[in-house]
Amino acid sequence: MMSKQIQVGIIGLGGMGGKLFHTFLAHPDFQVTAVCDTDANRSEEAAKEAGDLPWYTDYQLLLQETALDLVYIAVPPAYHHRIALDVLAAGKHILCEKPLANTLEEADEMREAAQRAGVVHAMNFPTYYRAAFRELSARMAQGFLGEVRRVEITTHFHQWPRPWQQNPWIGGREQGGFVREVMPHYIHLTKSLFGKVAAVDSQLEYPEDPQACETGIVATLRLEDGPPVLMNGVSQIARKERIAFTLYGTKGTLALVDWSRLEGGGVGEELTEIAVGPTDHLADMLTQLASTIRTGEGDVVDFEAGFDVQNVLERLLQSRG
Ligand SMILES: NC(=O)c1ccc[n+]([C@@H]2O[C@H](COP(=O)([O-])OP(=O)(O)OC[C@H]3O[C@@H](n4cnc5c(N)ncnc54)[C@H](O)[C@@H]3O)[C@@H](O)[C@H]2O)c1
Repeated sequence: MMSKQIQVGIIGLGGMGGKLFHTFLAHPDFQVTAVCDTDANRSEEAAKEAGDLPWYTDYQLLLQETALDLVYIAVPPAYHHRIALDVLAAGKHILCEKPLANTLEEADEMREAAQRAGVVHAMNFPTYYRAAFRELSARMAQGFLGEVRRVEITTHFHQWPRPWQQNPWIGGREQGGFVREVMPHYIHLTKSLFGKVAAVDSQLEYPEDPQACETGIVATLRLEDGPPVLMNGVSQIARKERIAFTLYGTKGTLALVDWSRLEGGGVGEELTEIAVGPTDHLADMLTQLASTIRTGEGDVVDFEAGFDVQNVLERLLQSRG
């Protein structure tokens, strides 16, 4: 027998929240019960699309007035903390966007509150659920790489913020920048494959405008038990955007390129594309979340993992000067 659908409230319906709202709507394990965005038009439009749901511009009212099992938070990073603490105080399961918070102190309070609340706490790190990453980890476990000698995280942007990603915060130093926005995915993947990061050494480049986000990072991470990790991020350069997570081994190389493509090669070979099956990684993430809420068994990225990522992120940003 099909269990009852999980009632979900969504706070934040912008670029990411709007996307996952549609994934929630199509997913059999969930029922979207109410939506909220400080932009009334966005909130009302989403509510209409989902069949005249209650809609809000104040998340406190959403929490007070609707029967919810789970709340998904997809507001800009500086507001995760306040809203998450209120959701947890209301005893709801929580799915929060990455990065967990905007400072390490906030992230620490959030993970403690989540532990105390005794609810399921999960984060949206969707690359972890992509078929290309699943295949990369499977091949690594089968010995395709031999001994891994180096991990390289490359994030090159022709333009940051990207032309399609213009919003009020993503180009700002307070909560935007590609280090906060993109690196957490790859810090998390590195941690999931190799374990904890022991030390961080980072150099950032900033433009003259004190409000504007970084334009470059050169950093190394030392793992407690794993190969050296090299980060090379730069924006406002001529070349087309390219994001690559590359594992160099003694027997082979594997690279996750531009989020979804897997490339690999053996000794002395060029990297070529490895075909991976079509999957809906966002839907897969939600399936794991539903299973964790219903049975306690599921592969979710919890707030503890989110805190670990935040810890590395804040150390990367320490040279922000
Ligand atoms: N997991 C991923 O792959 C991924 C991808 C993109 C963005 N994100 C994360 O998702 C979050 C949102 O990013 P985005 O690109 O959707 O931003 P966005 O600016 O496009 O959308 C944010 C939305 O939140 C609303 N909002 C702001 N404050 C609010 C509040 N107090 N209550 C209710 N609504 C509020 C805004 O009106 C806007 O509609 C960020 O944390 C970002 O880092 C994650």
